[in-house]
Amino acid sequence: MTMDWKDGYLTGVKRVDAQHKKLFVSLNDMEQMISQKSVSASEADDMISALATDVQKHFSFEEGCMMRHECPMAKKNKDEHDQLLELIHEYQHICKKRKPTKQSLAAFHKSVETWIMEHVCFVDIHLRSCVRNKGY
Ligand SMILES: [Fe+2]
Repeated sequence: MTMDWKDGYLTGVKRVDAQHKKLFVSLNDMEQMISQKSVSASEADDMISALATDVQKHFSFEEGCMMRHECPMAKKNKDEHDQLLELIHEYQHICKKRKPTKQSLAAFHKSVETWIMEHVCFVDIHLRSCVRNKGY
């Protein structure tokens, strides 16, 4: 499933929204890669490493925002972030031991995609009402 961006996902924090959009693009790129005939291990490694870096940077920025705006979802947000980071690190660990298959990549992609959609819609969206200075 291609992830389509909707303005209903906007949090009102420009940098958070730009990071979310970038994550949607990365997940769609990963889906594209998985749909190819074959996927090389190095290609998969590079893509997962880039995703891990983007996710980490985004999470730390967004967690700071929620703290500063005193968002009531800040704790739940951080807990869910930690769960996704664990899932990504676990998969990276598995890929170090054995070459990722298209099936394992597809399962990983599906888990991350589902997590992002649900998290943006049910947790991050709360930031919108907490933001006092648009574009912060
Ligand atoms: Fe979040």
